[in-house]
Amino acid sequence: MAAPGIRPIRLGLIGTGLAVEKLHWPALRGLADRYVVTAFTDPADEQRKRFTGYSGTDPALATADRAALLARDDVDAVLISVPIPSLYEVACDALAAGKDVFCEKPAGVDAQQAAAFLALAAGFPDRTFVVGENYFYRDDLRYARALLDDGAIGRPHLMAWRYAGQSVPRPGGFTSTPWRHRPQYRGGVHLDFGVHHIAQIRLLCGDVARVHGAVQAANSTIDAPSDLTLNLVFTGGAIGNYTASFPEIPIPPEPNDLRLYGTEGVLVLAGSESERRVTRSSADATTHTTVFRGSDNGYRAELVDFADAVQFGVRPVGSVAQSVANAMVVQRALDSAEQAAALALDPVPGAGPVPLWRPRGSAGLFDGLPGQRISSTASFAA
Ligand SMILES: NC(=O)c1ccc[n+]([C@@H]2O[C@H](COP(=O)([O-])OP(=O)(O)OC[C@H]3O[C@@H](n4cnc5c(N)ncnc54)[C@H](O)[C@@H]3O)[C@@H](O)[C@H]2O)c1
Repeated sequence: MAAPGIRPIRLGLIGTGLAVEKLHWPALRGLADRYVVTAFTDPADEQRKRFTGYSGTDPALATADRAALLARDDVDAVLISVPIPSLYEVACDALAAGKDVFCEKPAGVDAQQAAAFLALAAGFPDRTFVVGENYFYRDDLRYARALLDDGAIGRPHLMAWRYAGQSVPRPGGFTSTPWRHRPQYRGGVHLDFGVHHIAQIRLLCGDVARVHGAVQAANSTIDAPSDLTLNLVFTGGAIGNYTASFPEIPIPPEPNDLRLYGTEGVLVLAGSESERRVTRSSADATTHTTVFRGSDNGYRAELVDFADAVQFGVRPVGSVAQSVANAMVVQRALDSAEQAAALALDPVPGAGPVPLWRPRGSAGLFDGLPGQRISSTASFAA
């Protein structure tokens, strides 16, 4: 995985808020052979100070604004982690300044800006330009996808996933950021967080051919729909339902499992970041479970893929087109809810089935990666 003899990418950080603190910096800290932070910027003094405090980065690497950062010759690539409404404009400036770009999700505040992201990528074919989607790189999801590719449950015919979790502003949490309370992007929490779920669904079930959606607003802390339910028809012929609810009141513990029913077995994806489980059952009632611990929701691997793209010309899995395809399922679902009609989805140019990421040069799924994977078998026969 390391790149002997190759200089680490000199990275500039644009925006040093919660995602950098909780997600990117922990990943970057473990990738010193691939990245060195040479500059950072954030309009908020407090955020800059906080970043230098926990990261140990030299405060002298702070720049006044993004123009100053983008003008530096010692910045090869930038990580853009600013509020959703500003992502596109910052990505435009960074590409125009000749930088390789890792931009946070989602690809566009609405369908029009999603198309603008695609056009932007097409306008800079020589640059590496990624809109991050860490779920494509999650160990449990890649393992589940490999099982499906191997025909472990036969032909998948039905996907069922209900995800419900209370969402209220919590100090220090993502829900605390004011820009998320009155979102200037269509779909609110469903475009911000739900887009990862759509990525998971696309990784496992393939592209969506048709969607019928409905929404409800039942959370006074978010000025957007809290509930979204989708009936889905996949291009491969399977059908499915995805229901997401982010209510204001506490709710009883929910399983939040995704279940995928096949002609020869069932795949169940369960758990949360600290411990994820993939259980495959067969028609003879045996189950095979793999537990994943110590992996990080894919943040490290997506930065490795970006570095491989910049340094070795590898085609990144989390391309702009793939992120646009995720965002467009949400946008089309909202169109469907507004029009009270089932709607077809147009294929996104350059997207197609999500490729399965493996460490570069490796045939295995986990070679050289951190984390524990423990398997066991059981039976649910009476
Ligand atoms: N992949 C994931 O799991 C995940 C999780 C959370 C957030 N995100 C994404 O990360 C991004 C940031 O989210 P967050 O939760 O860290 O928000 P945040 O508000 O905590 O941080 C954003 C930071 O950007 C700064 N900023 C605003 N405008 C800027 C500009 N023009 N130039 C430079 N800095 C600017 C703000 O001062 C703030 O410090 C969003 O795009 C979000 O979608 C991704």
